[in-house]
This record gives sequence, C-alpha cells and structure tokens, in this order.
Amino acid sequence: MLELHDIVLERNNVRSLANVNLKVEDGETVVLTGPSGCGKSTLIRVCLGLIKPKSGEVWFEGVNLQALSPEALRKKRRKMGIVFQEFQLLDHFTVLENVLLALWEGDRDRKKAEEAIKSVGLWDKRFRYPRQLSGGEKQRVGIARALALDPDIIFWDEPTAALDPMYVHEILRIMDSLAQKKTMLVVTHEMPFALKVADRLVLMEAGRIVEEAPPSRIFAEPASHVGAMYRERLLDTREALGKLDVKQVV
Ligand SMILES: Nc1ncnc2c1ncn2[C@@H]1O[C@H](COP(=O)(O)OP(=O)(O)OP(=O)(O)O)[C@@H](O)[C@H]1O
Ligand SMILES: [Mg+2]
Repeated sequence: MLELHDIVLERNNVRSLANVNLKVEDGETVVLTGPSGCGKSTLIRVCLGLIKPKSGEVWFEGVNLQALSPEALRKKRRKMGIVFQEFQLLDHFTVLENVLLALWEGDRDRKKAEEAIKSVGLWDKRFRYPRQLSGGEKQRVGIARALALDPDIIFWDEPTAALDPMYVHEILRIMDSLAQKKTMLVVTHEMPFALKVADRLVLMEAGRIVEEAPPSRIFAEPASHVGAMYRERLLDTREALGKLDVKQVV
C-alpha cells in the first residue's frame, strides 16, 4: 500500500503540491488527472522518493520513505515500476538489453527480462534497436522494463500521450489487463479508460487534489469544475459513439 500524508512541496515560495493526501491500496488502480502543470508528474516523483517534500510523509508497504537510508530507499524503489510518456529507452541498446539494464547488479536475471518481453508480445523483436520500432512497440519495451522487476506498484506518467492515435489503444489494452493483477497509479487524460479500469479517479488542480471518487460517480455528478470538464469530454465521446450503429459493426 502507498500512502501520502499531507505532502507540501515548495520552490521559491511557490507551492507546487499543497497538502496532498492520497492512498493506493494493494490491488487498486487509481487514475490521477488534471490540467497541465497541476503537479501530476511531480507527485509521482515524490512517491518514488526522488523528490523530498518540504513536509509530509510517503509510506510504502509500511515504511516511511523519508526515514530510509539512501541504500534502503534504492532497494524499496526496486519494488516500484515506472512507465514514462517519452519511453526513455537507450538508443544504442537492443530491446532485450534495455530491459536487462533495468534489473540491478546481482539481480540481472535474463529470464525475468525475457518473460517481461514475451508478456508484451515483443519476443520476435528482442534484438531490435529502438529506432527500428513503432511508437507503440517502444512503449511496450518501457512496460516490459517496468515489469521485469516484478514491482508491487506501477506508476504510469501519461504513457499514451506521445503516441500516434493508432498505438494508443494497444497500450491501453495492456494497461487494462495489468490492472487486473497489479497495483497501479496511472496519470492519464484517457477518460474512457479511467471509467472502465479505475477503482478511483483523483482530480488535481494547481497542486491540490480537488476531487476523488469512483469514476462513475465523478462523471455522473462532478463536485469540482475539473470533474465537470472531464465529464463534458466523456459525454462528447458518448455523443460520437451514438452515431455508431453497433449492429453493423459487430
Ligand atoms: N523538485 C521540485 N520542487 C518544487 N516544485 C517542483 C519540483 N519539480 C517540479 N516542480 C514544479 O511542479 C509544478 C508541476 O509540474 P508537473 O510537471 O508535475 O505538472 P504535470 O501535472 O505533470 O503537467 P503535464 O500535464 O504538463 O505533464 C511545476 O510548476 C514545476 O515547476
Ligand atoms: Mg507531467
């Protein structure tokens, strides 16, 4: 379980996170969203112990991250996977090497890397370089790299935002199937995905959590203007879908 208690983050007297409280229970999928610059990526970095907040605590699996030595923190972080928007692959390494490099010295278990690559359907391409892959395939390498460590929680920072629309769906499907077995905190603007997959939707604005509830509740009756904005988007999608004659397609 991951818990944030009253996180405050400031730089030059500007608050980028203001009293953030958040809980992700084991097995839960929580979707976090909000306007650009509201603090989503920063919040993930705080969860990973990469940024120390001015005040507040991050608890992960019963341990306060701030109380750990750098060595113990690194060890704890190996239980946390992260998938980035921009893939962050090493261009001069193959798919297999990119995943192997995520495993640490002493734990460089080729089998784990191979299993992870198989699980995202890239086995045939394991000797390719990132430039030889589509955007969707690159992101699947990013996912395999996160999975290779068999993390207890996976953070996703807008994993489909840099993809051509044709690849968005393949990544969302992988995320959907992982959500069944993993604990996940997902930053995304994909509201149909949130509605389908998230146990809870958390909305942020200007460094604060402004609303938090099961997505179906937020979309039915938003309590914040951010919620209302996302509801509008979803209704637009529904309106477009209304033009589809499903009987003709199936
Ligand atoms: N170490 C830090 N200390 C204090 N503030 C920070 C730190 N790192 C980032 N910030 C600030 O946090 C704010 C939020 O940025 P962040 O990248 O988290 O937003 P975001 O919601 O992820 O936006 P986007 O949707 O564009 O990715 C920015 O104003 C940034 O300057
Ligand atoms: Mg961001």
